[in-house]
Amino acid sequence: MNILLATKNINKHREISRILKDTGNFHQAIYKEDLIDVVEDKNTILENAQKKAHEIYDHYQVPVISDDSGLFVNSLDGMPGLHSKRYAGENATDLQNIDKLLANLIEEKDRSAYFQTVLYFYDGKTEISTDGILEGLIAKKPRGSNGFGYDSIFENKGKTLAELSSEEKNTISHRKIATNKMIGILNEKI
Ligand code: IMP
Repeated sequence: MNILLATKNINKHREISRILKDTGNFHQAIYKEDLIDVVEDKNTILENAQKKAHEIYDHYQVPVISDDSGLFVNSLDGMPGLHSKRYAGENATDLQNIDKLLANLIEEKDRSAYFQTVLYFYDGKTEISTDGILEGLIAKKPRGSNGFGYDSIFENKGKTLAELSSEEKNTISHRKIATNKMIGILNEKI
């Protein structure tokens, strides 16, 4: 099945299409650069993911999967969380978001955090949501040049996600876990 990915984030698209390809199944994630905008104004990533999937389906009338993700830092009461994309301001760059997070953690001993991805499928009748969590620690400074967003400061087993190849990130990531669950349910239901 061709599934429109409800995100303009090319990195998310690359990761999800690669996971779909590597698991050798028949679903394909379609990327659309000029997707309509959806305002992410809900209180949880699940609700935002659901809102994105519904609005994109209502507009394009094709099966949709949305991805809403965030980085949750325990000592900051889960921030940046829902606000991960705009942590340092409306049009903040990845680097500005990272700088703000590192500054807020400067005195902090507990640097534990997790990434969470919620995927939401909607085709006008079937609704499926899955999630994936990856636990780790926030590094003292950025390391590595792969990946996107907060990858360069998120450590899992001693390496930041930006120090991993895309294949390596795709074997452990929150997105991989959520996508695998989604493929399993889609193959059962549809
Ligand atoms: P949203 O899901 O489009 O609201 O974006 C959430 C933000 O979280 C992104 O802009 C990234 O900064 C960050 N993010 C989401 N997934 C990842 C990831 O796999 N690695 C690093 N940062 C991520």
